[in-house]
Amino acid sequence: MSYVVSISGSPAVQSRSTHLLSLAEGALRGRGLNVRRIDARALPPAALMHADFAHPAIRQALELIEHAQAVVIATPLYKASYSGLLKTLLDLLPQSGLAGKIVLPIATGGSLAHLLALDYALKPVLSSLGARHHLPNVFASDADLPKGEAGYTVLAETGQRVIASVDALVHALNDQAQLRELRLKASPPQAVNPLRHAPAAVVELVRCGT
Ligand SMILES: Cc1cc2nc3c(=O)[nH]c(=O)nc-3n(C[C@H](O)[C@H](O)[C@H](O)COP(=O)(O)O)c2cc1C
Repeated sequence: MSYVVSISGSPAVQSRSTHLLSLAEGALRGRGLNVRRIDARALPPAALMHADFAHPAIRQALELIEHAQAVVIATPLYKASYSGLLKTLLDLLPQSGLAGKIVLPIATGGSLAHLLALDYALKPVLSSLGARHHLPNVFASDADLPKGEAGYTVLAETGQRVIASVDALVHALNDQAQLRELRLKASPPQAVNPLRHAPAAVVELVRCGT
């Protein structure tokens, strides 16, 4: 089953970046895609910090990422970078852990001052993990998600940017699927030769029909 994995990298319970992530998830589901969420803050802290790959929750999170076609990553900006919590999770991925995946970064920050943090801090990490297809970042400042009694609301323009990015993600996934199909048609998988690993003497016997 193909799916998109969404990662929330905020340690906050009430989180603006996670709120935007939820908006993106809803739009993805509305376009017929399966979405599986990883909340980094819900992972066992000791297992994260000690890189305990044997811990079932860590193993499950890494497997989810491994088999996803696309990854939406949401993070707050902390100290002119992305969150340390997100880094602890990304550090557990294998070196090519994002190879072949489409990645959409989403971030919120106190102001526009560190808008470029996604480009100079997060993008190099995603590239080093093998991601080649980054969609343009979605960045929103806190003023774009005012807090009301019922929680955060998203200003219309910000919401539209999230939806436009989701559409770009769906488009990229469709392109990828079409490309795979074309490649398959151009060179269908070879039938497996049952004698591939047989000793030469056996091959010779079969060839002679004995
Ligand atoms: C410890 C800490 C450091 C922060 N550092 C920055 C920063 O360097 N630049 C910035 O634009 N916002 C900074 N902020 C503001 C948050 O990025 C912003 O409020 C964001 O929307 C929080 O996202 P969240 O609600 O998903 O955690 C910081 C907030 C905290 C708590």
